[in-house]
Amino acid sequence: MSELALLGGEPTRIKPFPRWPFFGDEEERELLDALRSGNWSVGGAKLAAFEREFASFQHARYGLACTSGSTALLIALKALGVKRGDHVIIPSYTFLATATAVIDAGAVPIFADIESETYTLSAEDAEDRITSKTRCIIPVHLAGCPADMSKILKLAEEYGLKVLEDAAQAHGAEWCSRRVGSIGDAGAFSFYQSKNMTAGEGGFITTNNEEIAELAWSYHNVGRDRRRGWYEHVRYGWNFRMTEFQAAVLLAQLKRLPKLMKKREENAKHLTHLLKSIPGIEPLRKPDYATSHAYHLFIFKYRREEFHGISKERFIEALRAEGIPCSAGYKPLYFYRFLWDEMVEYVQTPGELNLVNTERASREEAVWIPQNVLLAEREELEDIARAVEKIRKYSHRLV
Ligand SMILES: Cc1ncc(COP(=O)(O)O)c(C=O)c1O
Repeated sequence: MSELALLGGEPTRIKPFPRWPFFGDEEERELLDALRSGNWSVGGAKLAAFEREFASFQHARYGLACTSGSTALLIALKALGVKRGDHVIIPSYTFLATATAVIDAGAVPIFADIESETYTLSAEDAEDRITSKTRCIIPVHLAGCPADMSKILKLAEEYGLKVLEDAAQAHGAEWCSRRVGSIGDAGAFSFYQSKNMTAGEGGFITTNNEEIAELAWSYHNVGRDRRRGWYEHVRYGWNFRMTEFQAAVLLAQLKRLPKLMKKREENAKHLTHLLKSIPGIEPLRKPDYATSHAYHLFIFKYRREEFHGISKERFIEALRAEGIPCSAGYKPLYFYRFLWDEMVEYVQTPGELNLVNTERASREEAVWIPQNVLLAEREELEDIARAVEKIRKYSHRLV
C-alpha cells in the first residue's frame, strides 16, 4: 500500500463516482412537451399528472407540488393548524429548514435527541419534552431511513399531537410496508438537486386528509380558495407554486426512481458488509421496520480510538484525498445562535439541552457518503473499504 494521498501518495481512487443529477430522453421529451404546451404554470397537465402520480407512489390520497422542501414544511405546518406560540418537537440533527419552517409558522422548535442506531428522532426523549403547548412533532426520515413511526404515532395519540413527516430525503422509503409521507397527518418532500429525484428545486406535500389538502393548496396559492375567483383571497398565504417545467422533469425522474432505489439498497447492503469488518467503522443500522430505505445518504460511525485518535475531520480529509466523496454532516441546529434570536419564546437554552446522541453523532461519529456513490458498480464500492483500511493502517502518520 502506498503513502496516504493526504501526505502526497497515490489516491486509492481517481475515477469519479456516477454524476448526479443525470437525465435521459424522457426528461427531454417531457420538458419539450411542457414548453410547447404554452401552459407553464397554473392548470398545466404535467403538474396535475405529477401531483397524482407522486402522491400515489407515496401511498397518499392527496398530493401538492410546491417550490421546495422548506416551503412544503411551512405550508404543511400551517395546514395542520400550528399557530403562533405553539411548540413543535423536532430533532436538531436535521437540515436547518426543519427548524426555520417552525419559526416561520410562528411556533417554537423544541429540540429533542436522536436514536443512536439510526440518527432519527428519539420518541423517548421527545416525550420528556412534551408540555401543554406542544402541538406537533416532526420526525425526520434522515438519510432515507424511516423514523420509528410506531413509537411516534403512539405519542401523538396519547398527547393529541399532529405528526408532520419530514421526508425531504426519503422518496420511496417505507415503514412497515407503508410509504413515508402517508403515515402521519402530512409529509414534506424536497426535489433539490442533491435529492434522490430532482428538478433542481421543488417540494411536495402529501396527506390523506382532504381538509389538510385543501388548506395546503390555499396556503401555497396566495390564500386563494379553489371555488372562488382569482382575486378573492380568503387567508394569508404565499406563492409557493411549482412550474410546469419542474413537474415535467419530475415525471421522468419518478419513472426511473424504483430502479435507482433498488440499486442504492443493494449497494448499501454490500457496502455495509465491506465496512463493518473494519475496526472503528460501524455503518448505521437499517431497522427491521424499514421495509425500504431510500439511502439518500450512507452514514457510518467513526471511532477515533481505532485510528490513533485522529479527529473525525482529519479522517474525512484523508478519505476525500483518497478519492472518496464524504462529509461530516450536520452541526446540531441549536448551534445556530440566529435561530434562538428569531424564536417568539425562549423555552430551552442551548447549554441545558443535553442531547447526548446528537452531540456524539455530530462532533465525533457521523461520516456521510452521498447517494450517487451508491449508483456505482458493486465492485467499485471496494475502493471505499480499501481507502478506509489504508487510512487506518497509516493513521499514526496523521497524528
Ligand atoms: C431533512 C430536510 N428537510 C428539509 C429540507 C429542505 O428542502 P429544500 O432544500 O428543498 O428547501 C431538506 C433539504 O435540503 C432536508 O434534507
